[in-house]
Amino acid sequence: MTDPTTRIPVIAIDGPSASGKGTVAALVAKALGFHYLDSGAIYRTLAYAALRRGVPLDDEAALTRLANSLDLRFDASEVYLDGIAVGDAIRSEEAGRAASRIATLPGLRTALLALQRAFRRPPGLVTDGRDMGSVVFPDAQVKVFLIASVEERAKRRHKQLIEKGLDANLPRILQDLRERDARDTARTAAPLQRTADAKLLDTTGMTIDEAVQTVLRWYGDSQS
Ligand code: C5P
Repeated sequence: MTDPTTRIPVIAIDGPSASGKGTVAALVAKALGFHYLDSGAIYRTLAYAALRRGVPLDDEAALTRLANSLDLRFDASEVYLDGIAVGDAIRSEEAGRAASRIATLPGLRTALLALQRAFRRPPGLVTDGRDMGSVVFPDAQVKVFLIASVEERAKRRHKQLIEKGLDANLPRILQDLRERDARDTARTAAPLQRTADAKLLDTTGMTIDEAVQTVLRWYGDSQS
């Protein structure tokens, strides 16, 4: 029997760090009245929990246990860990770097699959990450590979951190993004890659609204 959840539409938006895919995905979800999953927030929250509990970031067995026992809830744009809102703590560069390190562990990624797939609920899901179209939702109706130049991404991330009142240093962010791109692309477990069926959306020099409208048009096309 076919799994009935596979009939629930999914729009999967993958791309490198700070490409703006989260902003675009959240706005597409809002426009369609769909659920939204920021899969990076799961990796970030897990990394944040590991840092707080002193779990070494290369201890796959301990991290997988932590992933399986994690009390993680999403509510609008807030993430709750053990019932407490984590707020911007998971948005720091430290949490992002730690997330990209633990994200290389295959056992840990497998442990997070069911949690992510549970977000596929009617009327539909828009999700963003690195492997949403390639691994987590391979049957997604629309797959988008959203990119922007590394310089533009560094500027966007810098602006975002300043707006949040967080520590931000442009040259360090640029170097960090280059390292994170290399790690996310080179890892063997679910590397960041454009699958053959993903549409390329280069948002360098594009407004957020233009990017959102493009994804909505592609979704509309997929329905006809
Ligand atoms: O997207 P964001 O920068 O919040 O993700 C943080 C890190 O989590 C990424 O650098 C990436 O290594 C990892 N990640 C992943 N797979 C996803 C989402 C995020 O490996 N689906």
